[in-house]
Amino acid sequence: MKRCSILIGVVLIALPMMPACDDSSRPDVDMSKRSHFGFQTSISTSLMEEGKVAYANYCVGCHGANGDGVGEASLFLNPKPRNFVIGNFKFSSTRSGQLPTDEDLRRTIKRGLKGSAMPSFKLLPDRTVDSLIGYIKTFSPKWTENDPPVPIPLVDDPYRKMADKSEAIKRGEAVYHGYANCWSCHPSYVNDKKLNEYIVAFGGQSRETFRPDMDQSVGKENVEEEMLYPPDFRRDYVRGGMTADDIYRSVSAGITGTAMPTWVDSIDVPGKKSGDPPLVSRADLWAMSYYVQSLILQRPPLMEDGKAQIRNRPRPIYLHGAPPKKVEQPATSQPGQSFEF
Ligand code: HEC
Ligand code: HEC
Repeated sequence: MKRCSILIGVVLIALPMMPACDDSSRPDVDMSKRSHFGFQTSISTSLMEEGKVAYANYCVGCHGANGDGVGEASLFLNPKPRNFVIGNFKFSSTRSGQLPTDEDLRRTIKRGLKGSAMPSFKLLPDRTVDSLIGYIKTFSPKWTENDPPVPIPLVDDPYRKMADKSEAIKRGEAVYHGYANCWSCHPSYVNDKKLNEYIVAFGGQSRETFRPDMDQSVGKENVEEEMLYPPDFRRDYVRGGMTADDIYRSVSAGITGTAMPTWVDSIDVPGKKSGDPPLVSRADLWAMSYYVQSLILQRPPLMEDGKAQIRNRPRPIYLHGAPPKKVEQPATSQPGQSFEF
């Protein structure tokens, strides 16, 4: 880095002939402090340039050169890579319909979205991730036109300090089935008799029949008219993460562009008479989060969090039409035989 900037200072005239500075050895930079980058007057321009290069190295194959989600690999992917031009971001701490915060984007890029093709880019330096966050915002005018995103309130978690979460899980099961009717899209995890008990407990009418496939989720189109299946928590991955905090975020904030509503605004229901305990309150968002987590934990993980990662250096890019590289086959190669690489 140092040698690089001295070089830039001294041999400005020879600039076009200079080799590019090697980014891979660049340490993370503390972004809270002002810094000077040689002859560059604007740090944001240089970050944006970095973002463009990093995007071309790591993201373009899926999200596309124009950010419209139709990179070459997108043909084979379900769910499809995000279309940054439309700018509907799903996994955010902000209400459905709002843009995500930088922290949300950082979480997605660093962790990836388990259960989709979106990989974890944990190994990229913080600065590169920051540059990518800046760069993907250039694809949609929403980022300059809309109000800055505001995270949903984080209500106190009454169960946090309890080592045994069974009370939260029990309450969560009741609210999930009896009040919030999460089963109108996700599966129901209790039988119809129990379901009616829960519905009545929250002041609803018991029902003769429910939809026939209550143990499965109901497909719902998103705003781009793709069919999405709300996860069956005992079987499918949740992409926004599976800690109680992650699930609280997904449930409270809702999922932009999909049927999954914002719950934090519709769950403060007082009891019938004044002085009655509230029927449901925001604390129940935590109860449901622990309940959903307990369902998720019934499925053995195929791969533990953080085990799958993408390496922190770009792959060589072979252009279309370029002669294919000759791959040496081992002499003993047999059809169906597998090799360790
Ligand atoms: C192998 C394909 C692939 C690559 C490479 C990839 N992504 Fe993604 N990405 C996806 C898919 C698929 C989704 C959508 C998942 C979904 O809808 O659940 C996604 C979604 C996202 C989202 C949206 C999250 C949200 O809240 O909606 C962001 C942001 C994102 N990717 C950033 C990046 C960045 C930055 C890179 C490069 C560093 C990158 N992606 C590389 C496949 C990829
Ligand atoms: C109107 C339909 C609908 C209702 C009601 C609904 N959801 Fe969802 N939910 C969805 C859809 C659709 C998705 C999946 C979006 C996707 O594929 O990206 C989803 C996704 C989720 C996710 C997973 C997010 C992730 O990380 O992948 C959680 C957790 C969740 N819902 C919990 C709940 C809970 C708890 C309730 C009740 C309080 C509820 N949902 C009610 C439609 C619904």
